[in-house]
Amino acid sequence: MEQDKKDAKVLVFGSLNIDYVYQVDHFVQAGETISSRSMQTFCGGKGLNQSIAFGKSGVDIWHAGAVGKGDSRMLLDALERAGVHTELIRKKDCSSGHAIIQNTPDGENCIMLYGGANQEITREEAEETLQHFREGDYLVLQNEINQMPYIMEQAHKRGMRIVLNPSPMDEKIAQLPLEYADCLMLNEVEGLALCEAGSGQETENLLEKPEEMLARLLKRFPQSRIVLTLGKNGALFGFGEERYKQPVFKVKAVDTTAAGDTYTGFFISSLIRGYSVPEALRTAAKASAIAVGRNGAGVSIPTREEVEQAQL
Ligand code: RIB
Repeated sequence: MEQDKKDAKVLVFGSLNIDYVYQVDHFVQAGETISSRSMQTFCGGKGLNQSIAFGKSGVDIWHAGAVGKGDSRMLLDALERAGVHTELIRKKDCSSGHAIIQNTPDGENCIMLYGGANQEITREEAEETLQHFREGDYLVLQNEINQMPYIMEQAHKRGMRIVLNPSPMDEKIAQLPLEYADCLMLNEVEGLALCEAGSGQETENLLEKPEEMLARLLKRFPQSRIVLTLGKNGALFGFGEERYKQPVFKVKAVDTTAAGDTYTGFFISSLIRGYSVPEALRTAAKASAIAVGRNGAGVSIPTREEVEQAQL
């Protein structure tokens, strides 16, 4: 990921969601009916959030994916305001994806997704999109759209550098050619799932041993840079013999939605801008701390100037 990075184009091929965010005292339980304190509508989707993070961090960025014809203006406007190119986004005769998000007073959230247009991408559309990119360009993926195996295969054939954030983790991740990822951006739950799938080894207590989890992931994916985010315990980076640890910047959590997306966007964009890995980890940690202190998804993501000036 080191050579000619500054000339590379970056494509986020991913989801665009309308987020309906409900402020609740606690997450609704099975069989329970609760009232929410408020409801707000935000632009979200892991793909859109990551594109906004790239755009606000000053990288030239293209978003590809699919939205509904009738309900997507706010999603496209949000991307364009952040400087993201939107001409590769398809408009479909169905509704855009959406997310129902419960947010508690201590900033925790839980999310239910409806795929909508995010799940209507065709192979032809994927192929046509990738034709705009060439060897050395970056492809950033999450797990909220269809055609993922095909997109990864085709991007690999073109020599694109693939960054994969396998989130949300589900059974579809096992169908991906994970060995093509140049960089895996994982939280500890996603890391554990990949360790469980990849070996006959015991994985009990691995959540309490993140360094060991990282070592196992590096053994399974020796070609990938791995960033393992550990919530309040910061993040670990590994590649070959390189290892780095980055603590979190402590802030009062208002809403953790899009914190991981902000981290991914700022980490990769910082590397593209020529930062060292430790500098990129620090910048990503600072950016996501700022996002956690604000409400909403895309709208909570800071600009690079805000990140540089923040005294955390
Ligand atoms: O990562 C946060 C995002 O996950 C939300 O914006 C929601 O749309 C879901 O995709």
